[in-house]
Amino acid sequence: MPVKSTARASSLYVHVPFCAQKCAYCAFYSEPSAGDLINRYVAALIRELEMAAADLQPRTIFFGGGTPSLLNLRQWEQILRALERLQLLGADEFTVECNPATVSPDKAKLLRDFGVNRISMGVQSLDATLLDRLGRIHSREQVFKSFAILRQAGFDNLNLDLMFAIPGQTLGIWRATLAEALALGSEHLSSYEVIYEDDTPLFAQLRAGEFDVDEDLACAMYEALVERATAAGFRQYEVANFAKDKPLTRPAATLSPLGGARGAIPFYACKHNVNYWRGGSFYGLGPSATSYVRGVRTKNWSNTQLYCEQLEKGQRAIESREELPPLKRAGETAAFGLRMTAGWPFNEFQRTTNFDMRAEWPDEMNQLTERGWGRISSGGFRLTPQGLRFADAAAELFLR
Ligand SMILES: C[S@@+](CC[C@H](N)C(=O)[O-])C[C@H]1O[C@@H](n2cnc3c(N)ncnc32)[C@H](O)[C@@H]1O
Ligand code: SF4
Repeated sequence: MPVKSTARASSLYVHVPFCAQKCAYCAFYSEPSAGDLINRYVAALIRELEMAAADLQPRTIFFGGGTPSLLNLRQWEQILRALERLQLLGADEFTVECNPATVSPDKAKLLRDFGVNRISMGVQSLDATLLDRLGRIHSREQVFKSFAILRQAGFDNLNLDLMFAIPGQTLGIWRATLAEALALGSEHLSSYEVIYEDDTPLFAQLRAGEFDVDEDLACAMYEALVERATAAGFRQYEVANFAKDKPLTRPAATLSPLGGARGAIPFYACKHNVNYWRGGSFYGLGPSATSYVRGVRTKNWSNTQLYCEQLEKGQRAIESREELPPLKRAGETAAFGLRMTAGWPFNEFQRTTNFDMRAEWPDEMNQLTERGWGRISSGGFRLTPQGLRFADAAAELFLR
């Protein structure tokens, strides 16, 4: 048996580049599903897993997309058996993204049987008109049905993705969606303000003047989100992410490696994403996936055909490779970490990057503090609730 070195990446992302149809707002790399290409992709992914296995010892696995739940039972079984054969199963957290239209009891059971223990379901809205407008393939009823199927299959860690500031969405519609989503009782909630991504139909509609962006309404929606989610027992731990704590039935010390039931980060926080925000290494497989390992960032081709061709020739499908200068990387790490409500403890930042935030970004931190967006203490720096609302603008100050 090979000796496992500590240098192996503990965080594995797998990109599944297929969707039943593209949503109007989405710029993630994916294409409408095509039967044969999916089979070819599965074979290529298994080849890539075999080539990467010696570098991996995943504690978190995240299958994202695209729509991983679009793969059929046979395709999923091939991938899961490959993970088993390569001794890559057994992660503490194994998430699969699902679209409510493609969840079935058989698929849920298969995933659960192989150690998938977290499902992230893309809901976006529970308003039938908005779902249609966004180009979603599922109904609101399918959300409730799929949620019940996942619970029945034994999943006790479920995330729902919602979107707000959707064109045509009133505050009343948003509050109704929030209330119904919160009533489902998931352990995690991700809620993003709509981003108008280049080359999407929604962006083209905005450019054509079909609707206006209402910043004040978006702010009111964000406030409603934070208030309602908090009232429902969630803790916000990142700009768009909320998680519950585990009820205190056991001593707190045994509860969570990320801070316990009352720590800075709630028990059901997504460990995989916390690793990204905290500047950890990660390994990405599949078309368009990026990796960051030992200071080097690589990116796979965003072209499934090309990805398959490369792997069929026994070659990795890497399009670009970049070794980031340490200070540039530290700036990115600062920017990512400030998206978390806990901000950056100075000693943790130094341990991660070898730079002292107080020495490198004193003016930036003062500027944000004066604007009411940041708070410096002896132990660290974090954004205020107001600063979190504008986290992207605040984070930009740290990029070098
Ligand atoms: C890869 S998708 C999730 C899973 C699955 N593909 C689905 O949509 O059901 C990740 C999430 O990003 C969010 N998202 C994607 N594009 C967005 C955009 N332009 N603006 C805001 N949120 C977006 C959506 O909430 C989406 O659920
Ligand atoms: S939001 Fe999800 S389902 Fe829609 S196109 Fe993007 S990845 Fe596919």
